Amino acid sequence: MDIIQELERFSEEKQISFSKIAKGMGIGSSTLSEVRKGTYSGDREAILNKIESYLERHKEQMRRIDFVAETQVKKKVFHAINMIKKYVASNARNEILGSAKIAYITGRAGIGKTYALREYVKNYGAKSIFITAENSDTANIIIRKIALAMKKDIEGRRIEAIKEEIKTTLKFTETIIIVDESEHLKPKVIDIVRAIADQTGIGLVFAGTEKLRTQILSQRAEYEYLSSRAAVWMGVSELKIGDIDLIVRRFIKPELEDYKEEELRTIISYINNAVKGSARILENLLGMAYSIATEPENFSKTGGLLTLSYIKAAESMLVII
Ligand SMILES: Nc1ncnc2c1ncn2[C@@H]1O[C@H](COP(=O)(O)OP(=O)(O)OP(=O)(O)O)[C@@H](O)[C@H]1O
Ligand SMILES: [Mg+2]
Repeated sequence: MDIIQELERFSEEKQISFSKIAKGMGIGSSTLSEVRKGTYSGDREAILNKIESYLERHKEQMRRIDFVAETQVKKKVFHAINMIKKYVASNARNEILGSAKIAYITGRAGIGKTYALREYVKNYGAKSIFITAENSDTANIIIRKIALAMKKDIEGRRIEAIKEEIKTTLKFTETIIIVDESEHLKPKVIDIVRAIADQTGIGLVFAGTEKLRTQILSQRAEYEYLSSRAAVWMGVSELKIGDIDLIVRRFIKPELEDYKEEELRTIISYINNAVKGSARILENLLGMAYSIATEPENFSKTGGLLTLSYIKAAESMLVII
């Protein structure tokens, strides 16, 4: 089989499009297509080398978390947004413009807030607008971010005009705007988004660290608009052993039957102590431990299963603090 055929088989088996492959190789997709057809007039040999190294890089894929487990954080996030969803549906159905209803979701970094929010967005039947706030975001930048998420052409347009267009488009639609990392926003900026929701009947979700809660509640007098519109204050906490158990078992699902239940429990309990409630550390630890377990010499001894010693090795490489 020549290298082109190998690439075509790779694309077919892994369900990866040629445009994605070309992107991964750092070449244009028309170049790749011409090389495949044999009509490429440039340096064909150079491209074939790139294909070879691409295939080499992708031969041993890292195993990654590609699922969403029913963690407590996920359940709480869904519960909070579901409340907002009901208000929004009723606003749109009855064309009511009450005061906006806001869900505030707060919890420390790395426990799976963003992951759960994105999953919600994926499954929400109506429209949702997902933006991520940054430290330097002013009111104008937030308006622009919302407009861009709505795929509006804002080039050279005045902010007031953009805002009006956003409102017209959103009015009585069942849209939910989700602002992640919103502890970076000044209450003044959050309030601009609140005003849009008041005037359109859409729903709002602000997610962030505890700083978000402190900011809004400490400026209660000045920003009563924000605290009084809270339909839910949802605090989410770090992963518990039950969550870790779900994620670990799902991660090793292809080999689950090869583990002894008792060993698995020991592993899960060790991991639980090591990751200190963080889903992000868990993700890194599992990925690293799995790649250690599948190194050829380990694989021949332990068949790709995770053992306590691989997990400890991964832990020491990640320097978990
Ligand atoms: N429910 C879940 N099921 C499976 N994996 C999860 C789940 N929640 C989180 N993870 C894993 O943990 C990682 C970190 O989660 P996420 O980025 O959502 O955390 P976060 O709370 O938003 O953190 P930060 O505040 O740092 O942005 C995810 O990339 C994913 O690998
Ligand atoms: Mg996040």
